[in-house]
Amino acid sequence: MRSFMVELAQVAGKLARKHFRSLGDNATSKKGRNDYVTYVDRNIEETLAIRIKAHYPDHLIVGEETHEASSDLANYDGPAWIIDPIDGTTNFVRGIPHFAISIAFCDRGFEPRHSVIYDPMKDEIFYAERNAGMWLNNERVYTSECKVLEDSIVACAPSFRTMDASQDVFTVLQNLQPKIDDMRRAGSAALDLAYTAVGRCDAYWELGIWPWDTAAGELIVRCAGGKVSDVNGNEDALLTRRSIVAAASPELHGLLLQECAVLAPWMDKAPYTDHLLSQSQQA
Ligand code: IPD
Ligand code: CA
Repeated sequence: MRSFMVELAQVAGKLARKHFRSLGDNATSKKGRNDYVTYVDRNIEETLAIRIKAHYPDHLIVGEETHEASSDLANYDGPAWIIDPIDGTTNFVRGIPHFAISIAFCDRGFEPRHSVIYDPMKDEIFYAERNAGMWLNNERVYTSECKVLEDSIVACAPSFRTMDASQDVFTVLQNLQPKIDDMRRAGSAALDLAYTAVGRCDAYWELGIWPWDTAAGELIVRCAGGKVSDVNGNEDALLTRRSIVAAASPELHGLLLQECAVLAPWMDKAPYTDHLLSQSQQA
């Protein structure tokens, strides 16, 4: 499985590299407020789906650009792939070389078992297997193990697509900044998680993400020694994932979760009650 997934990521990465900074006119369309997609995102997702189906015709594929809301996800317990063809599309469109291909394979129950995140511009492969470990380009790596806020570099994202919770998000940012070393807003959730896994950052949190943004990265952080949940502290339930708190150690995770407590009530309010499971139940 590892070589198959790495090959998938590299094929996708080659496509992304080929079109980077040469997208041409009308390459980008808007899916929603500040939410873009290019023909390259679609092309990569289609390429990955064709390759996966050729090997595993019965597996379910949940991709950012083509996920079938009509699939009965609540009652599906078989193997599934969760794919983000380009995580960091805004960076990709703007010519900023910081985006990634994110692929998670779940053997059952939408629990990632193998994950790969590939940064095609830096040729970095972040790979994890549940109960086995996490590797960066074949080298076994671990989180920073940072346990305190004051030493931590924290990746984050302010509200930028829906503004409903922005007051509370800015409260968290404002309270956090004086307590930590510094923040980063780099524009790719997958790489925020990968960087947390390998100790370049110590933590990452965001309200408003989707399962394809984090599925691979969650396993990668856990297999490197970190802890991941939503803002309620819920560590599983990937399909309803609309928020994330990831950290290099359980101690730092606990501290960050406290800082994010003001965001927890949003999990029961629109627009965050809109998630993959609610969509598939409505269909
Ligand atoms: C986005 C990026 C961004 C994060 C957003 C994601 P996309 O993914 O990961 O960093 O803040 O929440 O949706 O749209 O570029 O695939
Ligand atoms: Ca994404």
